[in-house]
Order: sequence, then structure tokens, then C-alpha cells
Amino acid sequence: MRIDIVSIFPEIFEPVLGGSMLGIARDKGAVEFAVHDLRDWTDDKHRTTDDYPFGGGPGMVMKPEPIYRAVRELASRDPRRPFVVLTCPQGRRLDQRLVEELAAKERLLIVCGRYEGVDDRVRDIVDLEVSIGDYVLTGGELPAMVIVDAVTRLQPGVLASPASAEEESFSWGLLEYPQYTRPASFEGRDVPPILLSGDHKRIAQWRRLEAIRRTALRRPDLLASADLTDEERAFAERIIEERSDQAKGPCSD
Ligand code: ADE
Repeated sequence: MRIDIVSIFPEIFEPVLGGSMLGIARDKGAVEFAVHDLRDWTDDKHRTTDDYPFGGGPGMVMKPEPIYRAVRELASRDPRRPFVVLTCPQGRRLDQRLVEELAAKERLLIVCGRYEGVDDRVRDIVDLEVSIGDYVLTGGELPAMVIVDAVTRLQPGVLASPASAEEESFSWGLLEYPQYTRPASFEGRDVPPILLSGDHKRIAQWRRLEAIRRTALRRPDLLASADLTDEERAFAERIIEERSDQAKGPCSD
């Protein structure tokens, strides 16, 4: 997969894209990154990328021309048509399902918006606007890094064990089950004995139930779309009921 990023702060990407897992993914050839300075597509002496909003109001708005030129030129540099993403707080909220959709593209071109806004005509050349959550950042650079990280780790050959992508939080539509490593006993806290049993079938069953328990307790909203058997759903409902009984306490009702 190839990922192009267009930003007015291209230098802030290098430590992230070159480090740890992303750097390894790049070195292995699983993904190719290229970061571009939007100012390279300006045509004035000051390399201006923003301007005052028509109609007045606070803040500046990103001009359309440099973004149009950048997207068109970068698209033409490679035969694979890029899927163009604009990072902005009004976009589709990023979740693991969207990460999987983006990870399946041959090529992404991410345009980093600035928080005051982008000329609305830019939306005509964008395939998808993406938000990383309901809060406002100063710009789209951190969201772009989040997207790149989440998408890169799903590329074939990037994770040491592809099973870890399948088993982790959200890929079952559930939160991840509790994990432990050595020592088996630490400050009086013992690892659940089943994990030391070597019985892989029972361990898998335990993990699945613990993932359901954790999801029921922490993110019950995820259960509606999780793929559960009738028995598992009943288990989740029991966990939620038990918790609300506990919350009521012995003297209530
Ligand atoms: N730009 C500013 N805030 C953002 C957010 N939450 N997601 C994506 N882009 C943004």
C-alpha cells in the first residue's frame, strides 16, 4: 500500500513514520509513505495556504487551489488511483471497521485540514472525511498519524503474528480479554489458573467469555453489533444485571 500525506507541517511526520512498527513496515516494503508540503503547490511569494473567510468571522480558511493542485498532481504520479481522505472533526468517526476499509485500499492520500476549516469546495475532490473522535484538535496531522498507524499494522507482513490482529480488541466487536505474562504470582495477585493449564480449547473459551464480560461492563454499547451466540448474549445480559443489582446496594428499592 502507498500512503501520501499532504500537510503544512510535513516535518512532524518523520519521527513517527520512521520509528518503531511503522519504520519496520516501511523497511519491509509492506507500505510506502510520502509526506508532502502543501506549500509546494502555492504560487505566491509567501507560500500562502489560507485566507480570510468570506462573510467574516474568526480564524482563517485553507485555500482550495493548493489542495486541488496537490491532489491532482499526486494522483497523476502513480497509476493507482488514490482514495482521498480529509481529516476533519465533521468526518466519519474512525473505528476499527473504517480502519479495515481504509487498509484494503491500494493507495491513500490524506489531506490534513486545519481546525478553523477548509474551503468547502475541497470536499468535491475528497472521497471521505474522517474524524478521530468528538473533540477538536488544532489540525489534522495527529489524526493523519493515527490513521496511518492503524492502517499500517493491518498490512500483510507487518504484525509478527497476524492472529493478534484477529484476536485483539474490536476485531470480534468486543474489547480484548485480560492478558498476563510472567510471573504467575505477583504481590499476592495470581494469574487465573486456567491460563497455566495448557488446555488451549478451554483457554480460548475462557478468553471469549472474559472479552464478553469486559465489554458488558465497560462498553455495553458494543454488544448490539457484536457477533454473539444466544448463550453468550444471555451471559452478557446476566453480567449487566448483576452489576446494576450491585450498584443498587442492599437497601435500595
Ligand atoms: N481536525 C481537528 N480535530 C480533528 C478530529 N477530531 N479528527 C480529525 N481531524 C481533526
